[in-house]
Amino acid sequence: MNWNRKDLITIQDLQPEEIVHILDTALTFEEVGHRDVKKVPALRGKTLVNLFIEPSTRTRTSFELAAHRLSADIVNITATASSITKGETLKDTALNLQALHADIIVIRHSSAGAAKFLADRLDVSVINAGDGAHEHPTQALLDAFTIRQKKGRIAGLNVTILGDILYSRVARSNIHLLTKLGARVTLAGPSTLVPRVFEQLGCRVCYNVEEAIADADVINLLRIQHERQRQTMFPSIGEYASIFGLTKERFAHTKPDALIMHPGPINRGVEIDSDLADCKRSVILQQVSHGLSVRMAVLYLCAGAQPAEEAA
Ligand code: CP
Repeated sequence: MNWNRKDLITIQDLQPEEIVHILDTALTFEEVGHRDVKKVPALRGKTLVNLFIEPSTRTRTSFELAAHRLSADIVNITATASSITKGETLKDTALNLQALHADIIVIRHSSAGAAKFLADRLDVSVINAGDGAHEHPTQALLDAFTIRQKKGRIAGLNVTILGDILYSRVARSNIHLLTKLGARVTLAGPSTLVPRVFEQLGCRVCYNVEEAIADADVINLLRIQHERQRQTMFPSIGEYASIFGLTKERFAHTKPDALIMHPGPINRGVEIDSDLADCKRSVILQQVSHGLSVRMAVLYLCAGAQPAEEAA
C-alpha cells in the first residue's frame, strides 16, 4: 500500500490496513537488528528531534536507536534542559526546531492533544510518543507486533488489559488497535479505574480478575498511573495488589499458553508478582526489543523514503 501520512498521532485515526502495513514494515526491519552492522541508509540526511517533556526510558531510547539504525541524525531535548523552563511555549519551541531543519519531531507530553496541536501547525513529521492519558500509538503497535510474533495472529484472540485503564494512554491505543484488528478485548481492574463507559469502545468490562483472565490468550498488565491521578482511586497499594494483582495463584488458572505483557515500567509486587515478570510466558522484554523495529517502521514511513524492502 502507499503510505501518505506525515504524522502518527493516534491509532484511532488509522485504518486496519495501515496498522498491518506498519507491522509488516517493522518485520522487514527485524533482521537489521541481527546484523553485525545494525544500520541501513533509509533516512540518511534526515534529522530527528526527540522532544520529551515527560520522563521515558524505553520510548525515548528506542526512538533514538531506531533513528541511528536508519542513519538519521538525532538530537534529544528534555524539558529541564530546554527554554521551556524560561517560559517558551511548546509551539514556539517546535517552530524553532523546524527552523533548524528538523525533519521529524517525536514528542512526549503530559497534555492530551499536544502531538496533534504540533502536527496541525508544522510541516515536519510529528510522531506521538505519548500524550497525557490520550494515546501512545507506537506502544500499541509494538504490543501488536509482539502478539503477532508469538501467536501468529490478532483476530479472534482474547486480550485482557488489567489495571489502571482510566489514566492509561497505552490502554486507549491498545483498545483501538486490537478491536480494529478483530481481537476481543476485556478490561479489568477497580471500578474507579475501569468505568463502564469503555464498553462503548467495543470492550467487555469485568471487575473480577479471575473471570477476566480465565480465557485470555494475552494478559496485558498496566501500572497505576499515580502521576495523572488527582484523587485516591483505591484504599491502598497493598489492597490493590491483593485484589487486582497478577499473582502466581491467579495465573495458574489461566490458559497454559497465555502470554504476560506489560508496557513498562513495571512495579513488581503490585500489578505483577515479581516471579511472573521473569517467567517463560512473560514477553515483557521482547516487547521492548520489538519497539525498535516498530519505531524504525514508523519513522521510515512518515519521513518518506523508498520501499521498505530496498531500505532493509
Ligand atoms: N512503555 C513506555 O512508554 O515506557 P517509557 O515511559 O519508559 O518510555
